[in-house]
Amino acid sequence: MTERQAAAEIERLSAEIRRHEHAYHVLDRPETSDAEFDGLFETLVELESRYPELAGADSPTRRVGSDLTQELPEVEHTVPVLSLDKAYDMAGVERWMAKARAADPATAFVVEEKIDGTSILLHYRDGVLERAVTRGNGRTGNDVTANVRTIRTVPLRLHAPETLAVRGEIFIRRGAFEVLNAGVETPYANARNFAAGSLRRVKSRDVAAVPLEIFVYEGFMADPPPTHTALLSQLRRLGFRVNPATAVIREDAASADRSNGFAVIDTAAAAKYVAERAAARPNLAYDIDGLVLKVDRLAAREAMGSTEHHPRWAIAVKFDAPEGVSVVRSIQVQVGRTGRVTPVARIDPVPIAGSTIANVTLHNQDYVDSLELAVGDTVAVSKRGDVIPAVERVLEKDPEGQPVWRMPPECPSCRSTLTVQGAHSFCPNSGCRDQVRGRLRFFIARDQMDIAGLGPATIDLLVDRGWVRDVADLYRFDPERLLGEEGFGERSVAALAAGIEASKAKPFAIVLAALGLPELGPKVTDLLLQAGFRDIDSLYAAVDSGDPEVFTGIDGIGERTAASIMRHLRRPDPLTGSRMATWRATPRGLIAALRARGLRFAVEPAGTDGEQPFAGQTWCITGSFEAFKPRALAAEEIRMRGGTVTGAVSGATTHLLAGNGGGGKATKAEAAGVLIVDERAFLRLLGRSAG
Ligand code: IVH
Repeated sequence: MTERQAAAEIERLSAEIRRHEHAYHVLDRPETSDAEFDGLFETLVELESRYPELAGADSPTRRVGSDLTQELPEVEHTVPVLSLDKAYDMAGVERWMAKARAADPATAFVVEEKIDGTSILLHYRDGVLERAVTRGNGRTGNDVTANVRTIRTVPLRLHAPETLAVRGEIFIRRGAFEVLNAGVETPYANARNFAAGSLRRVKSRDVAAVPLEIFVYEGFMADPPPTHTALLSQLRRLGFRVNPATAVIREDAASADRSNGFAVIDTAAAAKYVAERAAARPNLAYDIDGLVLKVDRLAAREAMGSTEHHPRWAIAVKFDAPEGVSVVRSIQVQVGRTGRVTPVARIDPVPIAGSTIANVTLHNQDYVDSLELAVGDTVAVSKRGDVIPAVERVLEKDPEGQPVWRMPPECPSCRSTLTVQGAHSFCPNSGCRDQVRGRLRFFIARDQMDIAGLGPATIDLLVDRGWVRDVADLYRFDPERLLGEEGFGERSVAALAAGIEASKAKPFAIVLAALGLPELGPKVTDLLLQAGFRDIDSLYAAVDSGDPEVFTGIDGIGERTAASIMRHLRRPDPLTGSRMATWRATPRGLIAALRARGLRFAVEPAGTDGEQPFAGQTWCITGSFEAFKPRALAAEEIRMRGGTVTGAVSGATTHLLAGNGGGGKATKAEAAGVLIVDERAFLRLLGRSAG
């Protein structure tokens, strides 16, 4: 094949593939079988790999994306990227319609769905997609062209060599969102944030794997037709995907049945139409957060003009959701006990669904980027799952035009340079005060060591004074030093000293989980104990064996947990003298220090007389308890007395310890004739009285 023949063949294949893609994705009317399509596609890929110089920027093969990492450079917008004014009810809409009619008595209105996705501007030159830019702060956005090329409903080449720009919404269907969001490290709050996050991935091949879609709703061109509806149908003819759920409201609906292919509604029926669309919202395949009404005649739009923020010729009718509107006053970064650094937005306090929200976690840089959030922005805030506050979207950019917020390069607490792992940033310094504070607060928390007389405020004081630098220091420092500090007298110091002393008797299961090692929470600790690891040395031996199957063999412990236990409990490299500080910072070093101070790292047999009244019994525990929080405390009491504790009622179960709200297991136990013991009876068995 000569190069000229190859060029002709590439052009022919591209045109045919483009036609099939348009029929399939945009028109929803496939004209070919998948196999036939794949055949064409592969032939094109093959030809282009032989003649790479012939592969155009608009080749259909660009949709597969690439593995190269890219920057998303900032580019200035060449068309105004405005927001929408809002009405919250029909009265607001009617006031707006009256104003529009004052400008143009004959105007019709176009009603579109307000797609809850992420806004995009597409620039075409001579019919070829040249650039795709996010909304950004309205003046500049990010160039995401390589990623947008992977979206099948975005035409890479138009049906005519036009030079124009369009604005549209990129979104993902709810079903696809739910499936894909289930497998990610930091799940997104909603489909919109997921779509926005996907669009900003650094490898376009990753974007190609996400079924993003587009609806186009505004066009910018040299000689536009006279109306918005005519413009939309022109865009449609050029190959763009225009939302078919678009209607026109006009006075003479009966005479003009359909307008450029859109359904026509009589002005008198407008309110009914809006109500119907709101009611249909839960059944849509994608999220919408309202409707948009737009003036149809472009000359009337011109006459009405725009404010700095929004055009006067359009209005959004919002469907109500339990959301609040607030302003981001600052974004601070917090360092957690694992070193993970999390940005938190401080917002003007806003009441939402029964509580006042002032702080909202932003998770990580990717999350902030997907919102394109800057300090000063007005945002919509929700309560995810009715509990956790989340920033849903930016409603209005900060008038000062602040740049999108960036994670500082250094830890705000210790100034170490942050490291990045996956989506998250970490402070690498385990001696960082904020990390230490976090680990100590975790260690003493109610569900963990629950040390009487020691609360978070005291922890902060001890860390700030430099008296306590790790968990082991709690057992080394002299509580008397607190005498004279604000709020401390003889009595509180004595109570604290007694609380710390008493905590040395906390059972192994509690101590181990309180260390806060990744994946080693109360549940896994319990599984390990049940599996026969009754002291820290047996765990060390298993870790040192280097065989993760010792752990994965336990029902309920998976590969990730096993790997984490192996990594965090591994024996550090041989350490000597001056490196003692490093040794102390490792979990084994810390455990050695705590052990030396008398904390328990083995399951204790009951009493010194070694009496084992529960020997031969197999207990199962369900529900929650007053005297045993967490539940592992009850399990510990059983084991101390020689009993076995298992996770489920089985043929071997002899006793069920039933707390509050433990329905299923009790029913099963009852049927199996297992002895059911409530908390009062259990306390009596332990020789303690209830209450
Ligand atoms: S028109 C100048 N039409 O809503 C007018 N916007 O709150 C530009 N949106 O940032 C917007 N569906 O991302 C328009 N059918 C639609 C829309 C729509 C969703 C988004 C858009 C905009 C936001 C404003």
